[in-house]
This record gives sequence, C-alpha cells and structure tokens, in this order.
Amino acid sequence: MELLIKGGTVVTATEKYLADVAVNDGKIVAIGKDLTVEADQVVDASGKLVLPGAIDAHTHMAMPFGGTVSADSYLSGTRAAVCGGVTTIFDYPVQHKGETILGLVNSKKEILEKEACCDYAFHCCITDLNGGEILDEMEQAVADGITSFKCFLVYKKEGMMVDDGMLAKLLLRAKELGALINVHAENPDLIDLRTEQYLKEGKTSAWYHYMSRPEFVEAEADKRVVHWATHLDTPVYLVHMADKEGLLACIQAKEEGHEVYIETCPQYLEFTCDVYKREDGRNFVCSPPMKGQESQDALWTALKAGMIDTVATDHCPFQSYEKDWGKDDFTKIPNGCAGVENLYPYMLSAANDGKLSYERVVEVCATNVAKIFGCENKGAIAVGKDADLVIYDPDKDFTISVENMHSDYDHTIWEGKKLHGYPVQTYLRGKLVYDDGEYVGHPGMGNYVKRIHR
Ligand code: URP
Ligand code: ZN
Ligand code: ZN
Repeated sequence: MELLIKGGTVVTATEKYLADVAVNDGKIVAIGKDLTVEADQVVDASGKLVLPGAIDAHTHMAMPFGGTVSADSYLSGTRAAVCGGVTTIFDYPVQHKGETILGLVNSKKEILEKEACCDYAFHCCITDLNGGEILDEMEQAVADGITSFKCFLVYKKEGMMVDDGMLAKLLLRAKELGALINVHAENPDLIDLRTEQYLKEGKTSAWYHYMSRPEFVEAEADKRVVHWATHLDTPVYLVHMADKEGLLACIQAKEEGHEVYIETCPQYLEFTCDVYKREDGRNFVCSPPMKGQESQDALWTALKAGMIDTVATDHCPFQSYEKDWGKDDFTKIPNGCAGVENLYPYMLSAANDGKLSYERVVEVCATNVAKIFGCENKGAIAVGKDADLVIYDPDKDFTISVENMHSDYDHTIWEGKKLHGYPVQTYLRGKLVYDDGEYVGHPGMGNYVKRIHR
C-alpha cells in the first residue's frame, strides 16, 4: 500500500465519520476504522478532517481578455489550486472566430501536459459556429471527453457574445450529444446603453461598473436562458450567478422539474457592490459584478437550502498595473478576480463557523461538480475513486495575503480575510503536492480528465 491516512474524520457530501483511508496506485482502495494494512507512508490525521479534493468548475488561466492575458499561467494557477485544496480545475478556452474547438483545446492540452500541477478538464467557449461546422465538431469533442461548452451572452465588443438563436442551437445540439451548455447571463444591450450614458455624464469610477450592470441586467438574461432551456426542454448550467431575481427564476424552474444547474462564486457570498465605492474598487471589477445585500442573502439562503449546485471561483486575476488602466474609466478595467486558492478554505471556514455544514461544502465544491460534469473518478471519498484528498485542520487560523498565496498575481481581493481552519495537506492521486504552506509537487503531474457524457 502506498499511503494510509489514519484517524481522521472523513467528510462526504452526506456524512462525516472517523475512518482510515488507504491508497494504492493513486486510487482509494479501502476506507474503515483501524485498517490494518502495511503502507509505505502513514499519515496521522487525528483531529483533522479528510476531504475529497475540490473541483473548481470555473477558471480562466492565461486567458487573452480585456486587452491583456489573465495573470496566472497554467503552471501558477494550478499550483495555487492544489495549495488551496483544489485537485481538478475546469478551464475555459475561448474560441477565436473561425477556429475549431478541438484545435483550440488540443493547443491548451499541450501546455498543460508540461505545466499542470493539478488535474484538468475543459469547458470550451464557443463564439462562432463556423457556418455550422462547430455543431458537427461537438460530437468529436464529446467523444474526447469535453462534455460541456460555454456561451457568453455578453462581451459583444470583444467578439465573444452569442445571440439567442445561436444559444438555442447549442442547447439543442448539446442535448442530442448528452452534453451541457454553460451560460454567462447578462444583457449586453442594457449594459451598452447604461455604460454610454455614464461615460457621457463623466461617471467613470468603479462604482459605475456595478451601475452599468446591476441586478436587473443579470436577471433579464438569467430568465431568458431559463425560458429558452425550459421551453426547448434542454438542460442548462448558469455560471457565476450573483443576483436574487435571476436566482429565484432558476430555483422555480428546478422546482418545476427542469434541469437547471446553478453555480455561484465565493466573491458573491463575501462581498457586496459596496466594494466598488472603495478607493481600490477597480480590483474587485468582475462580471457579473458583486450585487447588493439582498442578493447576497438570497445566495446564502439558496446555498444552505441545497438549491445552488456548485460553488466555483471564476478565477481570472489581473495585475495591479492592468487594473489601474481603469482608474479613471471603469470600461478599461480588465474584468476578473483571483480565487482558485481561496475557494475551499473560504467555504470550509464558513462551515467551521457554523454557516453551513461541511458535507454541503463537499457537495457543492466537489461531489456535485463531478456528477454534473461527468468526472466519474473524482469528487468523493469512496473506494475506487482517485485519491485526491485534502487534510484540513479546523483549528489552524489563517489570514489570506498575497504573500502567502501561490499564484503569480500581485494583489488579491481576499487580502486580510481571516479564516478559521485551513488545509494542511493536499494529495493528487495519492501524491503529496501541498504540505503546510509549501507546494511540494512538480509541474506536469496533472492529468487530463476525460469526462463521460450524460
Ligand atoms: O469578470 C470575469 N468574470 N472575467 C472572466 C470572464 C467571465 O466572464 O467569466
Ligand atoms: Zn463569465
Ligand atoms: Zn468566467
């Protein structure tokens, strides 16, 4: 036996119990009390929690965006991931007009084969059907394990937006193939209208990023997506939901039996739009923006009630000098914030403080992600699954600072956030990759996760 983790409290999506976990060949081979097996390495986890590695369903590494490229490379982003207990990331490669999706994904795979510090999968962002060719190509993509695709209903000027007709085609084609469409829902015309007005009035601070795309701008698009998906009878996954009205429409559709999945992010659970009034408000600029207290409260209520399916980060950091481009004009701020290293610690600390259960955190950060997106070997502590494991010390206090993160960015919106409890070790398929503050793996250890379709 390679590894025996002894005496910890194993947490699954449904229960917590004292058990040892035995690992061989990168897989969990036994779980039980006082296992009597010989192992090369025995780890004492008494007083600690043993959790499945988190799966961050939403990251943008090295993504060309906002006139630059997001600040984490695949190497630094995946290194940061494991240091925060994330053992699989989903990246969002964005198709340039005319490009094939397999060409795009294969070019990313080549980089990740050398750089990945955690396992990885792709949701491919489709921006152009290339005269219908992409609808055909999706079949091969699904066969290659890319079983989800993303549409942006925004970023019109950036050439990334899809219209409703294209959304409908993609929803229907994905259903045919057993795949899933992920949607970034905000209304682009309302954003343009409001932005134009604010710029004309000289209202250019980061606050007007929020004001140009407030609650109802997101809600309209959320509801439109739910409308299309329910009437076309297709499943759909709404990414980074941040507003109450849209959230309630999704929950209603779920309650009526439609397959509508809801993702939110830690930044929407922690911050409100008030951050945009701060002097450094531009650092918090992401889309959709943080919303008001009512929306944040609704997100927590839905999360605790089991109505939110996943919590993922939308990790897309930019350096301070890039955020500064928009000091005097919010439209010039590259959109996106850091989070991949903060997801699991933040959510687990919330559980430690009694805001929700540890089981629920495991469910939304690991188990549900694996189920929704077809990662059959991931997301749970069970015999036969990959030994992606996190040992968590509920008594270790930690204050987030850019100095103790493992990314390449130079600032973080999470600076100064105090957490109660922190991961102390991360294992990727049975190999120790994070140990008490240090990255101890090596780039290239991460594997491609070939997913199964629905
Ligand atoms: O502001 C964000 N969210 N940047 C990344 C791209 C996206 O919309 O997900
Ligand atoms: Zn988005
Ligand atoms: Zn995103």
